[in-house]
Amino acid sequence: MQEKINELNHKLEQAKLGGGEKRIERQHQNKKLTARERVAYLLDEGSFEEIGALVTHRTKDFGMEDQKFYGDGVVTGYGTIHGRLVYVFAQDFTVFGGSLSETHAEKICKVMDLALKVGAPLIGLNDSGGARIQEGVRSLAGYADIFYRNVKASGVIPQISAIMGPCAGGAVYSPAMTDFTMMVQDTSYMFVTGPNVVKTVTNEEVTSEELGGASTHSTKSGVAHTVSDNDVALMEDIKTLLSYLPQNNQEKPMDLPYELDQEIREELMDIVPDSANKPYDMHEVIRGIIDKDSFFEIHKDYAENIVCGFARLGGKSIGIIANNPMYLAGVLDVNSSKKAARFVRFCDCFNIPLLVLEDVPGFLPGTDQEWNGIILHGAKLLYAFSEATVPRITVITRKAYGGAYDVMNSKHIGADMNFAWPSAEVAVMGAKGAAEIIFRKEISSAEDPEAKLKEKETAYAELFANPYSAAERGFVDEVILPKDTRKKLIKAFAMLENKEVEQPLRKHGNIPL
Ligand code: HXC
Repeated sequence: MQEKINELNHKLEQAKLGGGEKRIERQHQNKKLTARERVAYLLDEGSFEEIGALVTHRTKDFGMEDQKFYGDGVVTGYGTIHGRLVYVFAQDFTVFGGSLSETHAEKICKVMDLALKVGAPLIGLNDSGGARIQEGVRSLAGYADIFYRNVKASGVIPQISAIMGPCAGGAVYSPAMTDFTMMVQDTSYMFVTGPNVVKTVTNEEVTSEELGGASTHSTKSGVAHTVSDNDVALMEDIKTLLSYLPQNNQEKPMDLPYELDQEIREELMDIVPDSANKPYDMHEVIRGIIDKDSFFEIHKDYAENIVCGFARLGGKSIGIIANNPMYLAGVLDVNSSKKAARFVRFCDCFNIPLLVLEDVPGFLPGTDQEWNGIILHGAKLLYAFSEATVPRITVITRKAYGGAYDVMNSKHIGADMNFAWPSAEVAVMGAKGAAEIIFRKEISSAEDPEAKLKEKETAYAELFANPYSAAERGFVDEVILPKDTRKKLIKAFAMLENKEVEQPLRKHGNIPL
């Protein structure tokens, strides 16, 4: 018996070594942790249970029979984070560059199937050169098996992808179909084809960082939802993100203990400037409303004219979507519409109530936006809000102009409560623009056109540049003082806690993709 135990221990020791000490050293030189070290940082101490540590590939071609490594380039299993069950796979770059073989894919599919059956989050730590070239179509089939499961699990369990090295080819498409893609600054890349292929096909010279580094994907493409400074920081960010989410779509997010106090926030009284054209940072409003230091921002550096993120209000998890007048005056454009629509849909899938903070002058005009499909992408956001059935509350802090008023979670598209600050302006457009259009003739024929414009602008502003005509119609439920916002929201969300919405029978809607 002792011999057999020794044999098992030897195999397990081999499995822990992955592609060997030299390659582990190279991984560390490249400022990257190994797959096992990442799993250890991610999960509660001692909670990891490995599945399939002794799996090896079945390929005979290209001398592969003599190159077998236990685990075949991926560490898979389950464990806990803050005491809650999660499933995890971590690709091991020291084994054939973390490339995906038939057996490597089978191991990932096994934990995906378990996660879906049990109803717990799936976390993928990706570090892979894509399809294992020596395996041909078998590795492509393995990818397709994973993609199919990503889609089956979508909206049922949270799926989180960490990008922790160069990820190429198929290695980027599975992350793209999960809920969140989180990258590491300077050591992670995502591209369908790397710089060498780009050079061959398009003659373009580009570095890995420019093509698909964390900065590129977090500012230009929007592929990355968050960026962390290093591997350990990314593991911490995953834990924080998970703390806002339920285990699956049948559950509500976890509440944190919270003692209600007076909840008045005086600092909110002076944030909105007197002039409608002066910007302010909507993050300050968010901070003034939520529980201390509880904001976890998604897509922080992408489409900054809209802010999306998770927060807690009285210990309960909420999703916040807020126009930010600091960037492009808070307009809705192609990128901000896509960003917010996806966030709204995620929250709706996982029973996370939505809070909208609105200060929006409308959609961004111009050929660039029209040619890039602002009609289509703006419609995504309109659709996403309209179909969401979680508790939904809007607070209009200043401008709610034009179509953007309708889109930003208005009562007409299903918001449950709509508050406005006294500084709110609910109108088709700003008073000056409105006066210029509807009184054009009167203004141009006046003795003093400028004075006439001012007079008409004031008249329009008196009528519409306020929250009261909307409140008279019931489109705004209550005009509240900024300092009372937090108190009102805590009460309103508590009132909506048991909201239920009957859905018409259908296979699925047809969101304008
Ligand atoms: C087999 C691979 C591999 C692969 C890397 N390796 N990628 N082995 N299949 N796909 C091996 C290397 O041979 C090397 O082995 C080790 O992993 C480390 O790779 P390096 O190139 O030394 O590392 P680095 O310089 O950091 O470059 C990493 C990389 C590069 C950018 C990922 O290796 C690369 O470009 N690989 C190929 C990427 C690719 O084209 N994949 C196929 C995509 S097609 P040794 O023994 O020397 O240590 C695809 C189809 C799916 O994925 C499509 C679905 C929609």
